This record gives sequence, C-alpha cells and structure tokens, in this order.
Amino acid sequence: MSILKYKPHLTVRDNILYIEDISTVELAEKFGTPLYVYSENRIRENYKKIYNAFKKFNAEIRFACKANSNLSILKILKSLGSGLDVVSIGEIYLGILAGFDPEKIIYTGVNRSYEELDFAVQSGVVLNIDSISELKKLINICEKREKEVKISFRVNPEVDPKTHEKLSTGLKLSKFGLHEEQALKAYKIAKENKYLNIVGIHMHIGSQITSVEPYKEAFSKLILFVKRLKKELGIELDFIDMGGGIGIVYKPDQKFIEPEQVAESIDMDLDYEPKLLIEPGRYIVGDSGIVLTRVTTVKETPYKKFIGVDMGFNVLLRPAMYNAHHEVLVANKAGEEGKEVFDIAGNLCESGDMIAKERKLPKVEEGDILAVLDAGAYGYVMSSNYNSMLKPAEILVNGKDYYLIRERDSLSDLVAKQIIPKHLLRC
Ligand code: LLP
Repeated sequence: MSILKYKPHLTVRDNILYIEDISTVELAEKFGTPLYVYSENRIRENYKKIYNAFKKFNAEIRFACKANSNLSILKILKSLGSGLDVVSIGEIYLGILAGFDPEKIIYTGVNRSYEELDFAVQSGVVLNIDSISELKKLINICEKREKEVKISFRVNPEVDPKTHEKLSTGLKLSKFGLHEEQALKAYKIAKENKYLNIVGIHMHIGSQITSVEPYKEAFSKLILFVKRLKKELGIELDFIDMGGGIGIVYKPDQKFIEPEQVAESIDMDLDYEPKLLIEPGRYIVGDSGIVLTRVTTVKETPYKKFIGVDMGFNVLLRPAMYNAHHEVLVANKAGEEGKEVFDIAGNLCESGDMIAKERKLPKVEEGDILAVLDAGAYGYVMSSNYNSMLKPAEILVNGKDYYLIRERDSLSDLVAKQIIPKHLLRC
C-alpha cells in the first residue's frame, strides 16, 4: 500500500511528486538541495483534527515547539489559537517573538539552571517544575525579585508508553518528573509560599505512541493524584496537562492511533472542572514536512546497491539516532513502480549515516530527486553543522504559493562565531 494514502497534501501528477499544488522537483531546482518543504494547509488540518478530537473537554493546545520552531510555523500555530510547550529559554524567546501570550506558554524542562529559571520568571510564562531542587531555586528567585509565578509540577506516572526506549519519558527509571510522594511534598511546599501560584499538573509519557492503553493508564493515575491534592492539601487546579506523544504513520503497515481514540480513553473523573491541556508536536507538523535531496552517486558493490545523496544525519538525524523509518520516494519518478532494492546512504563520513535501508525504488540515476517523508517534526530542529556541512533551507507551501522561510547556511556561517586568538592570527 502506498504511504500517500495517509498524506493527502502529497500527490503524484505526471510522474512528479507535488506538495499541495507545487512540484517538488521545481522547488529542488529553484532552491537547491537538501531542502525542507512544509505544507501549511496540512499543519492547519492536523491542528484542527486534534483540536476537534479533544473539544468535549474544552481542551487547549500547547504546541510542542521542540518539534519545529521555525518562526513561520509558530505563527501558523498562533493564528490557529494554539499556545506553546517550550523546553528552553531559546524557545521562550522564539515563542514571544512569534507573538504568543506568555500566559499560554508552558515551560517544561529538566535540570534547569538558576539563570534559566530566572529568565522564565521574568518572561511571565507558566513554569512546569521537574524536581524539588528546581522548586527551591524558583522560590529563591521569586523571593529575590518579589515576583509571583504560575506553576505546575511534572509528575512521573510510571507507565510504559510502548514506544522506542529513547522516546519513553514516564518510566519508573526515567529522569523526568516527580514521583507521587515527592510530588505531594512539592505541592505542599509550593502551597505555603506566597509567590507561587499553583495552577496545574503535567505529565508526558513519551513520543510516537501508537496505542491508547498507556494514555488511559497514566491519565487515570494522574486523576487519582489530583484527587489526593484536593483531599490532602485542599488544592484545586486550573489545568491538567496530559502532554503530547500521539504517533504518526511513518510506514504504511504500522499500527497507529487517532486522537479521537485517545480523547475517548481518558476520564476526567473529578468533582470540579479543570481545563485539559494537550501538547502535541509530531502529530501537528510531522507529516507536513519532507526533505528533498539529490542523488549524487549510484554505486554497486559486490554485495549491495547504494544510492548516495547530498544529505546526511546532519540534516535528518532520526534514522541514525533512533533507527527511525522514513519513507523515500523518487520525486521525479513518483508514479513508477519499485524495481530494485537500494540502501540510501548519506554524505557524512560515518558508517552510521544511512537515510534508509533496503528500499524498493524505480530505476534511480544520478541527478534524481528523492523525497524523504514525514520530516516536519524533529527534522530541521535536530540538524547540525557536523562535518562542517551547511544546514538546509526551509520552504513553506500554501496552495499554489511558496515561501522561503529560512535561508540555507552559507560557508561564512561556519565561522561566524569563531574567534582566533592573536598569537594564531599570523600562522
Ligand atoms: N511535551 C513534552 C514535555 C515533551 O517532552 C514532548 C516531546 C512533547 C510534549 C511532544 O511530543 P510529541 O507530540 O511530538 O510526540 N526527537 C524525538 C522525539 C523526542 C520528543 C521529546 N519530547 C524524535 O525524533 O522522534
């Protein structure tokens, strides 16, 4: 079955892959490769789909912008009414620059420094606290600045989300969040401090989740804890944040869940009505984006056929980092049947730099353009200048229009922040 069944913004016209109404081959010719390309309308559709699924809870979305923090993408989300889930002061900065109300930004993090917490306090975002140690720092900052802050606590529900181990965050042994008794202690400390305004509770159990049960289990544990908060400490919350994690279809035959199923599985069994927050990242932007890359080499060894491309894991890290599967199409032969099996190799000097393995593709020649799908989340944001490669450009497509939303790095960017000490200047 073709993956395109799940990606209505991608179509094949005259043997060429289109994103919305734009030929990917034309984009590659015009802007060069490697190139990230996003469909604005797909982002809007995905947002609406998840928003509607959780409507019965009057849920609000806090887009997890670690998935994609390009300012234009953030502005699309803002125009849809989203808030943001951020994990660094860099993301706070980008969110505020994109025009988000700080009250609709929740700052989650782990092992944050005094300076980072101080920056967040001054910017007026909601702070989601991960440890008692962080809480103590925060109290110190608020007392020094005589400033009140809104806070929630990240609770570790000790649930296996049944995804890749590196994408699991709420396991017993995970580094994230407060376990139940510690969390209770933290709420008690916070309640006694006049600068801390307790507004919520948070969990995030993992990413690329493809079954409903982990959500159900974790959410019911969270609700039991929320009941304890009221009974034992008299605390009522404004919001319950159930995190992100809903997976997308990377592979045609894989298991997946719909947001409606997740919404149906959760039970807000409380005697008051806190707001529900959700923090999707991948679900909103994941399938909206592709990377276009040009075939530089077709190479046959006695054992394998390789296609070499002009990108590596510096452009898309997921295959190398998580063994992640991304479908690959030949953009200029998109209507042709697969004929031969290839491994698609990146252009970095590392043997782990493989984009895809054992893929059946039409006859591939040098100069062809490949499209690596589902690269809209955790794609550009995880790119780097490793091997002193240049980071790619990004394009946003909307119907028949397209826009350059980030320029490709230039060689001078590689040295832009470097300083040569005087004694080396004349070497
Ligand atoms: N909220 C929190 C607190 C998170 O840590 C994350 C993701 C999300 C929300 C959004 O999760 P999503 O809906 O996107 O699954 N680099 C990995 C993914 C790491 C996810 C980290 N946290 C990848 O490429 O698969």
